[in-house]
Amino acid sequence: MIIESLLKVDSGKPSQSDAKLCQQCNSRPRRPLGRVGDTECFGLLCQDCFNSPERKITEERTQVRAQRKLKSQKLRDAISFVVPPLYRDSHIRNVAEIIKKTFLARKPFEGLLLSGSVGCGKTYSLYAFARYLICRQNYVIFYRYEDLLSDIRASYSGNSLSESQILHKLKSVRFLFIDDLGTTASLNTESDFSLRTLFNVLDHRINFMLPTFLSTNKTVEELGKGFDQRILSRIAGACQILNLSGNDKRLQKLKKKY
Ligand SMILES: Nc1ncnc2c1ncn2[C@@H]1O[C@H](COP(=O)(O)OP(=O)(O)OP(=O)(O)O)[C@@H](O)[C@H]1O
Ligand SMILES: [Mg+2]
Ligand SMILES: [Zn+2]
Repeated sequence: MIIESLLKVDSGKPSQSDAKLCQQCNSRPRRPLGRVGDTECFGLLCQDCFNSPERKITEERTQVRAQRKLKSQKLRDAISFVVPPLYRDSHIRNVAEIIKKTFLARKPFEGLLLSGSVGCGKTYSLYAFARYLICRQNYVIFYRYEDLLSDIRASYSGNSLSESQILHKLKSVRFLFIDDLGTTASLNTESDFSLRTLFNVLDHRINFMLPTFLSTNKTVEELGKGFDQRILSRIAGACQILNLSGNDKRLQKLKKKY
């Protein structure tokens, strides 16, 4: 089947009639498309073949296939923009059952705080959630907490987005992910800048019922000490909290290797 509109259009003088026969039925003359200067242009098919329902169906199918391909390429681009190569196998089906269930059963405006020891799979789970949401056409922002703070600090030098532009994005995005919240040593308190930033973002998101997904190495009590009770109270009100236990998966991988 020839899909005329996707193929090159032939041109030449009508007198060379055998070359001007329809490429499909090879019996009727190709349909004229008009003149370009002195040259008369023809399609590849005759009018009947061009109008045939089969050709239209095939062309529609080709277009649908091309659109699907474009859509899945866009999706792959969006995922690889957010999910780094180390976590490329982070799928919701691979995360621990309890985490998966809690994520899928949560209310639309609820977030999740994953608290747990080093290497137990917090970041992996957050990336799995992000991938799940992106695949369902949601826009997400994923930040390591330290990177978020340093991007805001960098905004003061005026080379990139301003602080208020960054904060606006963090406050308004439908799904926000903050990995590794509170990386100060366990008893130290966060800086004033860190407190203000997190409070500002969380308070706004909670008021607008936008879910935030967080991970931390600290316990909930340590988070309360490191940040403050107002922040902890907001996290507790807006997020389901999962205390994860488990071995360090990095070390397990290492043991398997050697
Ligand atoms: N469910 C899983 N399936 C396969 N690999 C996993 C899974 N969870 C974690 N991993 C792998 O284990 C390693 C550690 O996981 P991850 O980085 O998520 O830990 P973490 O809890 O975020 O650690 P940290 O507290 O140091 O940030 C990673 O290499 C990750 O790819
Ligand atoms: Mg992590
Ligand atoms: Zn024909």
